[in-house]
Amino acid sequence: MNRIVISTGGGDAPGLNAVIYSVVKSSQARGWEVYGSRSGYRGLLELDELVRLTDEQVRDITPTGGTILGSTNKGNPFAMPVENLAGEIHLRDVSDRIMTNFNRMGFLCHIAVGGDGSLEIAHRFAVEKGMPVIGVPKTIDNDLEATQMTFGFDTAVSTATEAIDKLHSTAKSHDRVLIVEVMGRDSGWIALSSGISGGADIVLIPEIPFNVETICRKITDNELHGKHYAIIVVAEGACAEKSGRIHKKTDKSEIGRQELLLGGIGEWVAAKIRKNSGKDTRSMVLGHLQRGGSPTTFDRLLALRFGAAAVRMAENNQFDQMVSLVNGEMEAVPLADAIKQRKKVPLSSDKIMTAREIGICLGDY
Ligand code: F6P
Repeated sequence: MNRIVISTGGGDAPGLNAVIYSVVKSSQARGWEVYGSRSGYRGLLELDELVRLTDEQVRDITPTGGTILGSTNKGNPFAMPVENLAGEIHLRDVSDRIMTNFNRMGFLCHIAVGGDGSLEIAHRFAVEKGMPVIGVPKTIDNDLEATQMTFGFDTAVSTATEAIDKLHSTAKSHDRVLIVEVMGRDSGWIALSSGISGGADIVLIPEIPFNVETICRKITDNELHGKHYAIIVVAEGACAEKSGRIHKKTDKSEIGRQELLLGGIGEWVAAKIRKNSGKDTRSMVLGHLQRGGSPTTFDRLLALRFGAAAVRMAENNQFDQMVSLVNGEMEAVPLADAIKQRKKVPLSSDKIMTAREIGICLGDY
């Protein structure tokens, strides 16, 4: 009987539980056993954190947010933060211990559900340690290459759109500029999709460095046309021409993270607008609201399809690959292709053209 292990790593995304459900059910249909590794690789590191996943564990989890296995974005086994007796944190490579446990458990393969960081680690295990891995593309940011879409993105966009919808009435009542900062480290997929759908006046994304004067001109233009308010959607990774991205201060608890925390660009833009135009301007950060809640129908279905396709790949010994959405169908693509770079919004894409054609300013002109 085959036995497989599944883990969920990196920032969570709506649909993770649907993938777990689908992997468990599809495996059971083949008479296989499934184990879940808690908090990314922790279950493979400490075997008491490994949990047998049966019907009972996964019953009714498809519509639920989060992950029943837990997740972490500080769990890179090649550089795991470990605290010594003096309270100092240093990074240790625990990958060999994970391989020993993986082999001891007799696993056929590891299904790693994650974004670019987690899939990079999975690929490293495949190449350097010979672990048979299959990736499943997860991230609300939708910035993974080699798949048309990741699961979690649709839900995040719906949440952001609903928030933008609600800002219109209050912005109008107070003649204010309201700025909403959404997630998206390197790519503006969430900002652009929700900004277009929610009727924003200005959308700022990492792919297009913005100019503060251009933004103020759009606000003035609104005024000239009798619209005394404006809605701006800004991705956390967006930045002004010739300036860097804005990071939050990090502390010791962040050691071992793959990336620095971003945040604060919304307030930065608000301060510039207040100074340049005198307009009453407020900003808000949507933050982790975008990662929470029940997955949309689209995300559930995508996640369930990804899970079942990953088990099919295991059956066919297709390892060091990722299940991917290509032209609406499930395909296996090399993990190396998925992680080689972040998927940006192409500047010539239909979404960019649509935004400009319906009068949304993207901060460049
Ligand atoms: O990768 C998804 C993401 O939501 C990014 O947009 C964001 O920068 C990051 O996760 C934040 O992660 P966390 O708050 O969990 O550290």
